[in-house]
Amino acid sequence: MDPCKVIPALGSTSVCMRDPQRVEELLHGMQKAGLNTIQVISDFDMTLTRFAHNGKRCPTSHNILEISQIISDECKQKLKDLLNKYYPIEIDSSRTIEEKLPLMVEWWTRAHELMVQQKIRKDQLALAVQESDAMLRDGYQQFFDCLHQQSVPLLIFSAGLGDVLEEVIRQAGVFHPNVKVFSNYMDFDETGVMTAFKGELIHIYNKREGALLNTGHFEELRSRPNVVLLGDSLGDLTMADGVQDVENVLKIGFLNDKVDERLQSYLNSYDIVLLKDETMEVPNAILDFLIVDK
Ligand code: TMP
Ligand code: MG
Repeated sequence: MDPCKVIPALGSTSVCMRDPQRVEELLHGMQKAGLNTIQVISDFDMTLTRFAHNGKRCPTSHNILEISQIISDECKQKLKDLLNKYYPIEIDSSRTIEEKLPLMVEWWTRAHELMVQQKIRKDQLALAVQESDAMLRDGYQQFFDCLHQQSVPLLIFSAGLGDVLEEVIRQAGVFHPNVKVFSNYMDFDETGVMTAFKGELIHIYNKREGALLNTGHFEELRSRPNVVLLGDSLGDLTMADGVQDVENVLKIGFLNDKVDERLQSYLNSYDIVLLKDETMEVPNAILDFLIVDK
């Protein structure tokens, strides 16, 4: 069986699949079950947003603040130093997740502590996003609009900054009512100044725990046991762990950086791996396939 025959976009040179037959089975199973049994769970940074544009890296939600006027030069430098130290560890294929985990917690904790010291005002966030180079992937409009029109719930599950990513999708005009966000949210005092982060920290490797804290959301979606999962990190693979009575999970992974070194581990865990693909073409083609009643 060849899934490229049913979805030609899967035949693109940027698409790799360990087991195309399994992909075809998942697709047909989900199509047969119907759109009203499907939910989409997606990571945000470098999954819904572009990794690079014209050869230049695009910012994550943390980076949007890091490069904005809101943050002092001293703090900018410290956040950049953290990024330079920890990002290579995040993408290092020679280390296990167990080895990376405490270091990632360290990164997030230190970055968030620095941000809290900056007395960020809620009303500054919109301008920081407006002035940034953050870009959703090409085809994002079709992706968000299609899910909205078809009443398919979209959970954006992010270890980034919830307040910032909401602003990105709001400014792009796609923060539709079917979109729900689990992320790190800032706590503001009555004058609108940030004083802390709310709740449990979500970092790159604890999305499973984050999912299990939100059983209410998944309980509401109990009638949707089929999941299309989109991620760019191996930590994103556990985003659907809270889904109740789960049946099929089609995992689509964007492999943006260090492709040769990481391809095998991505093929082992994602059903479909997209190599340096800055578009939503494949997810959109899959949604098109799932929508058509066959
Ligand atoms: P995601 O789960 O929405 O992709 O968010 C995690 C990304 O955020 C991950 O790729 C690392 C990145 N990040 C920064 O760019 N700067 C930071 O200070 C931190 C803590 C994370
Ligand atoms: Mg990501």
